[in-house]
Amino acid sequence: MPIAPRTPTIQSKLPKVGTTIFTVMSALATEKNAVNLGQGFPDFACDPLLVDAVDRAMREGLNQYPPMAGVLQLREAVAAKIEALHGKRYSAQDEITITAGATQAILTAILAIVRPGDEVIVLEPCYDSYIPNIELAGGTVVRVPLVPGTFRPDFDKIAAALSPRTRAILVNSPHNPSATIWSAEDMQRLQDLLAPTDVFLISDEVYEHMVYDGRAHESAARFPGLAARAFVVSSFGKTYHVTGWKVGVVAAPAALTAEFRKVHQFNVFTVNTPVQHGLARYMAEPRHYLALPAFYQAKRDLFREGLQAKTRFKLLPSEGSFFQCVDISDVSDLPEAEFCKWLTNEIGVAAIPLSAFYADGFDQRVVRFCYAKEDATLRTALDRLARL
Ligand SMILES: Cc1ncc(COP(=O)(O)O)c(C=O)c1O
Repeated sequence: MPIAPRTPTIQSKLPKVGTTIFTVMSALATEKNAVNLGQGFPDFACDPLLVDAVDRAMREGLNQYPPMAGVLQLREAVAAKIEALHGKRYSAQDEITITAGATQAILTAILAIVRPGDEVIVLEPCYDSYIPNIELAGGTVVRVPLVPGTFRPDFDKIAAALSPRTRAILVNSPHNPSATIWSAEDMQRLQDLLAPTDVFLISDEVYEHMVYDGRAHESAARFPGLAARAFVVSSFGKTYHVTGWKVGVVAAPAALTAEFRKVHQFNVFTVNTPVQHGLARYMAEPRHYLALPAFYQAKRDLFREGLQAKTRFKLLPSEGSFFQCVDISDVSDLPEAEFCKWLTNEIGVAAIPLSAFYADGFDQRVVRFCYAKEDATLRTALDRLARL
């Protein structure tokens, strides 16, 4: 008798992971023809000059494997940019690696440094990949809340969470979802706190060019005591309106980069070649990223002014990123997630509940909108929200 085909059962490494609220809300938004201010991506085209640059690279035959660490011209462009903006020189050869988006950079950094039993501190609310990434590496997640309401870091709580088993801390500024940014003083306090430790810093800076009201982005690269222990992560997708291209970068001291690349080499190996050449050529013109704060600040102001004039939402500050959080308590008694579904179904605008960014689903009556949208899209959303 032949043995019947059988599919072995996987004992899940991530038993708590299911369909994310981002997928649920985007599907619901499509079904209901709602304006999707949920998931964080632009609904406008990138600069045609960038598409031309990639197109040219393809036609020039730059279509085979690039070096494992990334196309050198792109690494050099990133090193030059970090030096110009933050005064820190990274070696393009040994300290900069191009990744398949920031998400892969963060997972790779975690896999390179975290061993089973190590503790990794995350500050909640946090981007949804951090916790599963730590779990995949066998690490123990230590959750520390940002102060509810203001989303400022609580350094006493962070200090209390540090232990001899702490391997790393993940920090994200400008912050998704709260749209707050860390000040120079915050970064200095983190630097002082970590100074006597061997804790690594993973600094998620994907919204580095979206900081408003004349303020500066305080990269970990600016703080020698942080840069010496940091994987500084960014994403070309966010900066150049091409989230679907999935190209990111990590800057880290040579010893850290060497270990990072060992994991990268046998997971991703290389990231697509013509896009890297196109980005390198496009980055030669700094105004493409220098113009970004004004571009997004205008969208933020349009959206905030509309919300203020037309709705009873209480607006939280939007200091950076392309998100606007609002307190819904004067508008609805529903829990955040129920409210977001109701808003999509009945009002035709999709948002994301902040509870999605907490492992325990903490509900503080706040939801997040994304304003990386055409002005016309934002106006349509505002007209609909005015019905609330
Ligand atoms: C805080 C944060 N980190 C990382 C990422 C992922 O960036 P990428 O698309 O380059 O993987 C995002 C995307 O939404 C994000 O918001």
